[in-house]
Amino acid sequence: MAPEDHEGATSLLQSFERRFLAARALPSFPWQSLEEKLREPSGSALLLAILQKTVKHPVCVQHGPSVKYARCFLSKLIQKPSGDSVTLSESTAIVSHGTTGLVTWDAALYLAEWAIENPAAFTDRTVLELGSGAGLTGLAICKACYPRAYIFSDCHAQVLEQLRGNVLLNGFSLEPHTPIDTGSTKVTVAQLDWDEVTASQLSDFQADVVIAADVLYYWEVTLSLLRVLKMLADCQRKSAPDVYVAYTVRSQDTGKLFTTELDRAGIYWEEMPPHTGKLFAYEEHSAIVILKLMLTGRHGV
Ligand SMILES: C[S@@+](CC[C@H](N)C(=O)[O-])C[C@H]1O[C@@H](n2cnc3c(N)ncnc32)[C@H](O)[C@@H]1O
Repeated sequence: MAPEDHEGATSLLQSFERRFLAARALPSFPWQSLEEKLREPSGSALLLAILQKTVKHPVCVQHGPSVKYARCFLSKLIQKPSGDSVTLSESTAIVSHGTTGLVTWDAALYLAEWAIENPAAFTDRTVLELGSGAGLTGLAICKACYPRAYIFSDCHAQVLEQLRGNVLLNGFSLEPHTPIDTGSTKVTVAQLDWDEVTASQLSDFQADVVIAADVLYYWEVTLSLLRVLKMLADCQRKSAPDVYVAYTVRSQDTGKLFTTELDRAGIYWEEMPPHTGKLFAYEEHSAIVILKLMLTGRHGV
């Protein structure tokens, strides 16, 4: 930790300790500063230190505030997302309830790692994720890259339900319209089927960045995705979004079919160089690729 960061954490801790021991009103605590500090890699350590200085403080253990006060404090504290972990509820089966979206796939982990290493691609931007599944990539991006807004999307009812749960589990709220701009990422979960979505619905998102992980597993699915990409290129009121598609190369055809169709549609693409930071445990031997697409001009759907 840099000396100035350490100083910031120490004064934040002191502020929590003094206010808690004096049983000051909870809104007077420096929650906003805490949220910012928790986004740093040492977020969990700071949370633990706050617990030690408040509910576990020797004075508090002997002569603590009311149980109700401590409970309200703790429930506010655990709502704060810490920057170094993502908690997920997901299925143990690869396919369940007729969908592949209830479990996290390797390409999602790979794309999350790439994003964490390249936060500038997402910071302060509106990100639309297609086929979010359990939500790992998006949650990692929300915690590590500070997008302005993040729209998770999927077509499957059960996947959407699990996704909403996972968003809440990680301390983000899902209010459709937040009246006050809190400065943190505005997170939404949208029902979006690539076979049905219209250009006007896509246009409403006004995404600066569009991402998708492991969505090229059937030819029909790839074609549906291409339909959306072409619409996205045509419907933007501002400049076309940057698009990143990550996929596991399961056979020689996986990427080839996609890139052939991209070429046919006049969508330029390039393969991103592999990143160096490996954070997650996944099949090391599986080849995973991230393509960056340049959506320019009119493509017609
Ligand atoms: C293999 S899973 C990948 C999930 C997640 N991105 C990951 O990598 O862990 C594919 C996801 O795409 C979604 N999907 C498939 N076809 C879709 C369509 N036509 N419209 C929207 N989502 C679709 C599925 O519901 C599923 O969540």
